[in-house]
Amino acid sequence: MQLPNLKEAKKRTREEVPVEEYKIPDHLKTFGKGKTYFIKTYGCQMNEHDSENMKAMLESMGYIEGDSMEQADLILLNTCAIRENAHNKVFGMVGRVKHLKETKEVVFGICGCMAQEEVVVEELLKKHKCIDLIFGTHNIHELPILLEKVRNSEKPIVEVKSIEGAIVENVPAKRDSNYKAWVNIMYGCDKFCTYCIVPYTRGKQRSRKPENILKEVRDLKQKGYLEVTLLGQNVNAYGKDLNMDYNMANLLKDVAEMGIPRIRFVTSHPWDFTDEMIDVIAKYENIMPYIHLPLQSGSSKILKLMGRRYTKESYLELFHKIKTKIPNASITTDIIVGFPGETEEDFEETLDVVRTCQYDSAFTFIFSPRKGTPAEKMKDEVHYREKERRLQELNALVNEYAKKANDKYLNKIVPVLVEGYSEKDSSMLMGYTDTMKLVNAKADPSNIGKIIDVKITDVKTWSMDGEISK
Ligand code: 5AD
Ligand code: SF4
Repeated sequence: MQLPNLKEAKKRTREEVPVEEYKIPDHLKTFGKGKTYFIKTYGCQMNEHDSENMKAMLESMGYIEGDSMEQADLILLNTCAIRENAHNKVFGMVGRVKHLKETKEVVFGICGCMAQEEVVVEELLKKHKCIDLIFGTHNIHELPILLEKVRNSEKPIVEVKSIEGAIVENVPAKRDSNYKAWVNIMYGCDKFCTYCIVPYTRGKQRSRKPENILKEVRDLKQKGYLEVTLLGQNVNAYGKDLNMDYNMANLLKDVAEMGIPRIRFVTSHPWDFTDEMIDVIAKYENIMPYIHLPLQSGSSKILKLMGRRYTKESYLELFHKIKTKIPNASITTDIIVGFPGETEEDFEETLDVVRTCQYDSAFTFIFSPRKGTPAEKMKDEVHYREKERRLQELNALVNEYAKKANDKYLNKIVPVLVEGYSEKDSSMLMGYTDTMKLVNAKADPSNIGKIIDVKITDVKTWSMDGEISK
């Protein structure tokens, strides 16, 4: 049994991370024959992509994907630790699986970021005897071997490395879309913002070698994918840990020159956003004019307490530089309200930045103390009800600007990558613009999997309607 330890996870070494190739042992290739699996994923795109990897690993063992938890022989919860409510959702689900296990035989595993937290693993092991397997974010590629261990053991198997191992290449992926693909360019994060659990649960920053990323993108292009999103917790720090003179601007340029029609990247941190990067994004038509630029707070005092390394002024300077060089860029953000020490004046400064930046949209959160992070121990005197009020006020403002940003699209013709049928109306198709706006459009299904021109006929806060432009 290998248990997690957040103090260990905090340690950073300067040693270069080795690279390994994924390989499934031959004797496990039929292990899952005749069995179904069900994976429930919580959290960010990183987790979504990890689940795509796990699905492909399971299918290479003979498992097939089931439609529901109830019919599955193997249930995996791929968890998120970013806020307390993410935890609560998972604990609720554990209760449901416990009931299910009373009626049928099923292997139950928990993985992802919550599995990296010692308090969570202790609680799961103590209170939930229905769990057969717990494995961490650094153990994902070991899934086939771990399932074999579960079969051969009476006790639950717990495998959580606190310190990351090698970067594993050639892990297969069963991608959710035939047109859009996520490509990891780096793992982990070294920023240690004081509220954030990610540097502990995902380990130190490790960039994949450029040639491996470019090879993956080349393969995706050959398979007909139209869009790749370069993924990392802090993508603009890409390459800093490699012993070579190669950075995010170089990578964006090299990926763009491969000619895949749409390139996106998430998530950026204002700290590492260089002029060189802005110039590359502005220059290449196939790098999408969409930038997620987390603000977190508009108060320089709070930003300092958060350990964000920029001030209100330097953030605004960067924002305006991007808008000047990429005028059609849609910019979105993340904001936390109610961080310890946030006064009404600090909150007003956040509203002030929102009014200045007029974001296309924003994800907003109430601060959630995470065990083991510095902010957990900071003095927090603001009542939760007051934090909720701030969130509501912020959301009202954010929505106002989101609608205003969308209004500009009315009657315009925009390129949309059509992904499939609309969820709200199956007679319509859905897709996203280059600027990442959700569009529901009247168009023939033969357009699915194509980038087409759509004329916007109606605009809402979170989506737009349109029709194919003749
Ligand atoms: N509490 C609230 N929000 C958080 N985020 C990260 N950690 C916390 C926390 N402890 C938010 C940040 C980040 C987004 C992914 O989640 O805004 O950008
Ligand atoms: Fe968390 Fe900050 Fe790293 Fe983002 S940059 S993952 S908020 S520590």
